[in-house]
Amino acid sequence: MSKIRAAITGVGGYVPDYRLDNDELSQMVDTSDEWIMQRIGIKERRILKEKGKATSDLAVRAITELLEKTNTDPSAIDLLVCPTITSDMPFPATSNIITHKLGLKNAFNYDISAACSGFIYGLEIVSRMIESGAYKKAILVGADMMSSITNYADRTTCPLFGDGAGAVLIEPTEEEVGVMDRILGSDGAGAANLHIKAGGSLRPSSHETVDNLEHFVYQEGQVVFKAAVSKMSDLSVEIMERNNIGPNDLAYLVPHQANKRIIEAVGRRMGINPEQVLVNIERYGNTTSATIPLCFWDFEKKLKKGDNLILTAFGAGFTFGSVFLKWAYDPA
Ligand code: UT7
Repeated sequence: MSKIRAAITGVGGYVPDYRLDNDELSQMVDTSDEWIMQRIGIKERRILKEKGKATSDLAVRAITELLEKTNTDPSAIDLLVCPTITSDMPFPATSNIITHKLGLKNAFNYDISAACSGFIYGLEIVSRMIESGAYKKAILVGADMMSSITNYADRTTCPLFGDGAGAVLIEPTEEEVGVMDRILGSDGAGAANLHIKAGGSLRPSSHETVDNLEHFVYQEGQVVFKAAVSKMSDLSVEIMERNNIGPNDLAYLVPHQANKRIIEAVGRRMGINPEQVLVNIERYGNTTSATIPLCFWDFEKKLKKGDNLILTAFGAGFTFGSVFLKWAYDPA
């Protein structure tokens, strides 16, 4: 019997309507469109403004589109995994809320906390579960409402983030497509450079933590920048080399979208052309666990069956990884 692989067989996405552009941000903090475009490469980000809506609602919209596009019966979904760092509430898991809202009655589900590497970590775990033969139709949905943890008075972090969700259907296949190889890692020393100070068991929420603005993203940008460039490029080069993929054999690099300069530096170090790199950061900013599936969503028409893709991400933890994926279907 040939090996069972896990293939992405459909894509759905959702970003809220509200566009927070650099001109509006420049009225909120001391910044400018010119600085943000030069140093980060983001023009606008989408913000979920509707009262009473949260991360699960972003995910529900993305999955609804995915189920429609792939003509999938919701009761056939047997696994749903949601990487997120902006869960609707501390517990239960956001995936429980998503499956309830969508009526996915047969889906075993749980969340993953791996920040910007959430989709890559999720792909590793879900693909292994599919390869085991135990699950037949899985949804991996990266969803984050970063506006809920962004301090819009801090110019060093507020231009970076946006809200969104991207969902993929993952199914078993005996063809030579799907997840072919992966390298994942973590380094907890990086926690000092990127975290939220309060709201967990170490510093439970209090008047003091709120007054001290300790419930927002804290980042030492330059440290994170350098570590992101070296990890994403080193792992991507390593996975290409060990699978005998030269720069010309690669259809696309699908990188986490945190900073356009990081993406360009990774592409240069891998020796590939800018046309081989999927980039949509200018329109959505960093949507954390949603960036990679939102790239699939935006560029689905470009992807052909058998295309060699390298996915790569780096995030808080630090967490990092690269995946070698062969795309499993042609554009509709
Ligand atoms: O997804 C994983 C998580 N995150 C990342 O991967 C992000 C990694 N880091 C970055 O993308 C970049 O480090 C930032 C975009 C966060 C910052 O860019 P930078 O080029 O590293 O700037 P910097 O922190 O070295 O700051 C340079 C100057 C500083 O002014 P002084 O001290 O030189 O006078 C900052 O205060 O730029 C200033 N600055 C700004 N100026 C205008 C910082 N933010 C802004 C701003 N507008 N928004």
